[in-house]
Amino acid sequence: MNTKTQNYINKLKLIDHPEGGFYREVYRSEMVLKNVNGQERNISTSIYYLLSDGAFSAFHRIKSDESWHYYDGEGFLEILVLDDGKLEILRLGLDISTGERPQQMVPAGKWFAARLNNPDGFVLAGCTVAPGFDFQDFEMARKQDLLRAYPEHKELIATYCLD
Ligand code: GUN
Repeated sequence: MNTKTQNYINKLKLIDHPEGGFYREVYRSEMVLKNVNGQERNISTSIYYLLSDGAFSAFHRIKSDESWHYYDGEGFLEILVLDDGKLEILRLGLDISTGERPQQMVPAGKWFAARLNNPDGFVLAGCTVAPGFDFQDFEMARKQDLLRAYPEHKELIATYCLD
């Protein structure tokens, strides 16, 4: 791990995320709302999220749209979104001439993963969700289930699922 990556982890007090990578929540609104199931959720939350040294965010889904923001890095992130069997690759980065974008949005309920285009580098991003994040609304994909649903993407699913 290079010193810049280590510095972000130390200074921003990042901790392991169950989906892979490191994170720290930076904002949780005081205001709450009830979701469609009548559960209380903060209106919005945001985190720092860091991937480095070949780490990836494994396939998972959440019940809110999630906006990703690029802050710093060596290279860009590819966010792999499965949309009813169709694979969409969103590039999160600053080189807009090659299709990267500083902000990307992952729709609620879609299975998605994220990887570094440069596995030796790092990317520091932000992730904002509304309604706010709750681990009850977070589901890690099971490899067997995703393989059954999307056999045409078996290489990606085999690589980017944790179980
Ligand atoms: N808080 C804890 N984990 C997450 C996450 O994966 N996304 C967002 N937006 N907030 C979180």
